[in-house]
Amino acid sequence: MSEGAAKKEDRRKFQAIKGTRDLLPPETALWNRVEQTAHAVFATFGFGEIRVPIFEPTELFARAVGGDTDIVSKEMYTFEDRDETTVSLRPEATASVCRAYIEHGMQALPQPVKLYYIGPMFRRERPQKGRYRQFYQIGAEVLGGSDAPAIDAEVIEMVMTFFDRLELQGAQLDLNSIGCRECRPKYVELLRAELLKVKDKLGPDSQRRIETNPLRVLDSKLDSEQGTIATLPRIADHLCEDCAKHYAEVKHQLQLRGVMYRENWRLVRGLDYYMRTTFEITAEGLGSQNAVCGGGRYDGLVELLSGPPTKGIGFAIGEDRLILSLQESGKAPAPQGRDVYIAWMGERAHATAVRAAKDLRKAGFSVELPPVEQKFGKAIGQADKLGARFALILGDNEVASGEWTLKTLADGSQQRVTEPQLLDFLRKL
Ligand code: HAM
Repeated sequence: MSEGAAKKEDRRKFQAIKGTRDLLPPETALWNRVEQTAHAVFATFGFGEIRVPIFEPTELFARAVGGDTDIVSKEMYTFEDRDETTVSLRPEATASVCRAYIEHGMQALPQPVKLYYIGPMFRRERPQKGRYRQFYQIGAEVLGGSDAPAIDAEVIEMVMTFFDRLELQGAQLDLNSIGCRECRPKYVELLRAELLKVKDKLGPDSQRRIETNPLRVLDSKLDSEQGTIATLPRIADHLCEDCAKHYAEVKHQLQLRGVMYRENWRLVRGLDYYMRTTFEITAEGLGSQNAVCGGGRYDGLVELLSGPPTKGIGFAIGEDRLILSLQESGKAPAPQGRDVYIAWMGERAHATAVRAAKDLRKAGFSVELPPVEQKFGKAIGQADKLGARFALILGDNEVASGEWTLKTLADGSQQRVTEPQLLDFLRKL
């Protein structure tokens, strides 16, 4: 490298990698509120938090999510570790939760086991609004016990309760059943046969999918294909007796819980492990990436990962999209300013200021204590900029008399208070 090139290299400005981003205050306050609400709501449904690793053997995702899915075939961040194992950054967490269920012998616990997780996932997708390469999910899984439709309904009720609590606008639940190992292959064959009859009316992507995965044709958003797709056979008419009964009961159980849904026979999910109940929730203000939550039943997945036969159902919320939607509808909290800015002058006042800051913070107030002495005018200006509600003015007079000056920044009014009076006053606000 030439000296010039080396110098240029030195001055390189680093930027977050495409599809990743920094989350900054004050927005992170909203992220925290969302996550705290998840902890609180999910706890009321008896769910406990699980934290699984960020990377796992590639084979875990390949087997669980499916080797032919977009997620596994195109979107995973995969690398050879030094011991020559191939590992991937997790593109989702259901596979990991099932692995953990098996690894920790959770089938010995009272069933079902109800777990939730919050954290980053990684998919190498084309970035756009609401779609990132590192994104965050809030997900939950119910493993073991029965496949009673009331479990499906309660899991969905829990997401809707969470969205309600956050006042998410326009949450729309789409519901479908995609059958089981018995009835789905028969339906897929029927669908393939019907698709072949109308092949000429479909675009190249859908034509390819007739062979690879006919169900994904139903996912098409192409205007030119909508008329043709509307004439295709619907899975609800081809479910086996058990699946039809299960689906009917899930709908009944949702009604019982007052959960509104829309049946969507075209709802197929991009992961292989699903069977029977599948659902997706969309919200307002998101443009084309408007799915804030996806989920469904995956009986048999634990077995596929070499565990015991186990029922399973769950969902994952796209936290980035949830936050975007809340922001678009003005549900984001106002940035939090400081409660008190301590404007101090002089050595003695400084010692008092340090003590006052400690006491106020202990009482739960947000306090800004300037590290060096400032002129009062400058201090008040700074307090204003930080959005402080009050400035506590501490100079020699105040310290000597024990009567401090509290200035309300909104109207400029001032009052004299002793330290106990100050705490009392602030607590009553
Ligand atoms: P998924 O539909 O692949 O399902 O993802 C769930 C949600 O994650 C999506 O609805 C979306 O909100 C969000 N999401 C996915 N990809 C991105 C991205 N690139 N950028 C931003 N948000 C994204 C699953 O992951 C399953 N594991 C859900 C599940 C849990 N099923 C059963 N249990």
